[in-house]
Amino acid sequence: MPQRQYVIDEMISAKAIAARIEAVARDISTHFADTDKLVVVGLLRGSFVFIADLVREIDLPVEVDFLEASSYGDDTTSSREVRILKDLRGKIEGRDVLVVEDIVDTGHTLTHVLHMLGGRKPRRLAVCALLDKPARREVEMNADWIGFEIPDEFVVGYGIDFAQRNRNLPYIGKVRFTGDEA
Ligand code: IMP
Repeated sequence: MPQRQYVIDEMISAKAIAARIEAVARDISTHFADTDKLVVVGLLRGSFVFIADLVREIDLPVEVDFLEASSYGDDTTSSREVRILKDLRGKIEGRDVLVVEDIVDTGHTLTHVLHMLGGRKPRRLAVCALLDKPARREVEMNADWIGFEIPDEFVVGYGIDFAQRNRNLPYIGKVRFTGDEA
């Protein structure tokens, strides 16, 4: 498949991400201080780096589970249809659940996932997203914790991909197309 040429400009450094995660994790630990165990649910695949760093800063007993919902294809536009590709392994009824997402964009993915998980009667259900693009929102969706609010730019790195590339960058970078088709 032809791949558009692009360069990546650093937007949020690895150091800034680490500092912000420490602060957010502290707040989450305080919020759920009375829990017996927090079920941290990572939305695959974009949250895999974020969840790894976040759980190591959360000062509570945690269990980690993963859910995969379809959102983007190999393109920079969001599809509206949300499908669950991989469900949780564990039950969440009566449990404290924190859903961890990489980016809240149009809001469709999280709205769908929260509706589905809410139906399983967790004790508490909260959301932590690394990035928020409020300018792109199509349905009302507010995460309880946000790492960074960003403008309407396509970003990669720190687990986030463009057509499955660039997930391994240690920072968040913005994609700048240089015009040519390869
Ligand atoms: P939403 O359903 O439109 O909120 O889409 C959320 C999902 O779209 C995120 O979990 C990402 O996987 C993907 N996404 C949104 N913005 C970007 C981006 O800038 N880069 C890469 N993926 C993105």
